[in-house]
Amino acid sequence: MTPAIDRVRQEIQTQPRTWLVTGVAGFIGSHLLEALLKLNQTVVGLDNFATGHQRNLDEVQSLVSPEQWARLRFIRGDIRDLDTCRQACTGVDLVLHQAALGSVPRSVQDPITTHDVNISGFLNMLVAARDAKVKRFVYAASSSTYGDHPGLPKVEERIGKPLSPYAVTKAVNEMYADVFDRTYALQSIGLRYFNVFGPRQDPDGAYAAVIPKWIASLIAAEPVYINGDGETSRDFCFIANTVQANLLAAVTTDPAAVNQVYNVAVGDRTTLNELYGHLRQALLPRFPHLQDAAPQYREFRAGDVRHSLADIGKAYNLLGYQPTHRVAEGLALAMTWYVDHLLHHEVI
Ligand SMILES: NC(=O)c1ccc[n+]([C@@H]2O[C@H](COP(=O)([O-])OP(=O)(O)OC[C@H]3O[C@@H](n4cnc5c(N)ncnc54)[C@H](O)[C@@H]3O)[C@@H](O)[C@H]2O)c1
Repeated sequence: MTPAIDRVRQEIQTQPRTWLVTGVAGFIGSHLLEALLKLNQTVVGLDNFATGHQRNLDEVQSLVSPEQWARLRFIRGDIRDLDTCRQACTGVDLVLHQAALGSVPRSVQDPITTHDVNISGFLNMLVAARDAKVKRFVYAASSSTYGDHPGLPKVEERIGKPLSPYAVTKAVNEMYADVFDRTYALQSIGLRYFNVFGPRQDPDGAYAAVIPKWIASLIAAEPVYINGDGETSRDFCFIANTVQANLLAAVTTDPAAVNQVYNVAVGDRTTLNELYGHLRQALLPRFPHLQDAAPQYREFRAGDVRHSLADIGKAYNLLGYQPTHRVAEGLALAMTWYVDHLLHHEVI
């Protein structure tokens, strides 16, 4: 049988819509933008460049045709401003809400700003989407919502207590989205992303995600630090899988699939020690200085979940989600991009 995503891509192409992507200059947002423009959709993009970059938009522009690029209307603005959210939602059919301040340690350092953007900004977006009568509001939820629940693999209905301010904000997002359905009939779908990775994910700064940070450090012959003993595990999910889940969620016509949250991952568990081994091994032929490289172990980090592994059965059953990239394939693609960009275009 044809995978659901192939049918959905075709359906989207034959029935073009107007989409709002918030956080469009970020890692995930820029991939959603690229996918939508390539499907000849009209896109409104909103971003304040807090953690996103113009270079991500420039790269998308280089990957689409001039006609496709002309279908983007970019708004530089902040989701903490309700009028900006209203402006962005005007005339929009579907919202893919990605704008937020990611990173557990950033939220531990500065819980107030994380709260303002991730909760107040999220609420502004819900209100604006409701008033603009958008057909569906798909938003970036997070695996951090599983918190201290020990069960593995993670199933959507069983969550624990949040372990960080960031996790609180993502749990509150789900509660608000649910209440907006009950109270105002705003259709929403929350996608609990599990450690997404791929090209354009920022390797720079104190709050960079582990994969781009380690690749950049290995290439630059800088030390790689592992927080804890390295047996902490994650379900790393290549960006193409995340884009797929967004498209499926945005256009599903199954009433049972709406007003739900879904795990978006692969169902593969990789420890940090294994991840380090894969990256070093793959980079070794190009970078012989890695022959004797070894990670440096340091303290566990506050707020981190110990193990994370998703059950993706719900997304498969209700949305037809089938990951196209396992971890190794995704890492190979990501690494090619980082080697090219870190060496030639100086993204760091
Ligand atoms: N990357 C992951 O592994 C992961 C995992 C779980 C959840 N998420 C969620 O996915 C979403 C996208 O994450 P990402 O990895 O692409 O991060 P990112 O930092 O690359 O993208 C976030 C984008 O939102 C923008 N933004 C931040 N605050 C804003 C504001 N006040 N107004 C307007 N724009 C604002 C940033 O400038 C950036 O472009 C976030 O909601 C994040 O919490 C990501």
